[in-house]
Amino acid sequence: MRELPLTYKITFTSEALSSHFFLFFPLRTMTISPLPHHVAIIMDGNGRWAKARLLPRAAGHRRGVSALECITESAARAGVKVLTVFAFSSENWARPKAEVTMLMKLFASSLKDWAQPLKEAGVALRVVGDKTAFSDELNEVIAETERETAGGTRMTLNVAANYGGRWDMIQATKAVLAKGKELTPEAIEAELTVPAVDLMVRTGGEYRISNFLLWQSAYAEIFISDVLWPEFNEANFLQALTWYSQRERRFGRTSEQLEQTGN
Ligand code: FPP
Repeated sequence: MRELPLTYKITFTSEALSSHFFLFFPLRTMTISPLPHHVAIIMDGNGRWAKARLLPRAAGHRRGVSALECITESAARAGVKVLTVFAFSSENWARPKAEVTMLMKLFASSLKDWAQPLKEAGVALRVVGDKTAFSDELNEVIAETERETAGGTRMTLNVAANYGGRWDMIQATKAVLAKGKELTPEAIEAELTVPAVDLMVRTGGEYRISNFLLWQSAYAEIFISDVLWPEFNEANFLQALTWYSQRERRFGRTSEQLEQTGN
């Protein structure tokens, strides 16, 4: 079993706290321990957020980008090492053409906007998914942003685009076989696009995995929030981290066994 996350003490400055935050956490300093090493997020609810305001779905997606920027910052500040977000699933191509085109443009423009701030924040961005379906232009922007931010060691932000959990398992299996190795869980894990997930967050109140990180979420703790993604903020994210810190992760063992071994 891999090493479990360490303890992090987080001290917030007043600027980092929204007024909403005080409702949940009245203290300036709090310790969340253990923190998840890898957090994955299904950012759901952009369409409903827009619809409730009589806005086009595109407005929801644009607000979704702002929410992603806020949560990336929160995650890095909290000490999360890997953040993987579901930006576009392999099934999302079935959406109306105008929405797909809009999402691809938003993806490209967001990557361009993020390259410099992520580099300065020490966050390495990677796009994970089947990139062969993207235009040459988008692939160039992806490659450029990955190159620009490659030196970041504070946190890795994986943006899952044209991603599907089944696809990831198949590509990993093919890679193992191509190397002439035996098919073992460890060998497959080494070829998957991202590592095992500790905390999976889904916004928008739906209770499904939607072909996200199927293999990697085998032992993930799953936090469902009713908040729609465009409104998901730092307070909500810290609530998820705090909830995670209180979970007993047994990995198939009993509580008594964990008490005996001390982990
Ligand atoms: C799900 O909400 C969201 C998506 C399919 C797209 C997620 C994209 C973002 C959050 C923007 C950031 C991504 C990019 C491109 C950088 P939904 O539209 O299914 O919402 P609904 O369930 O309310 O209809």
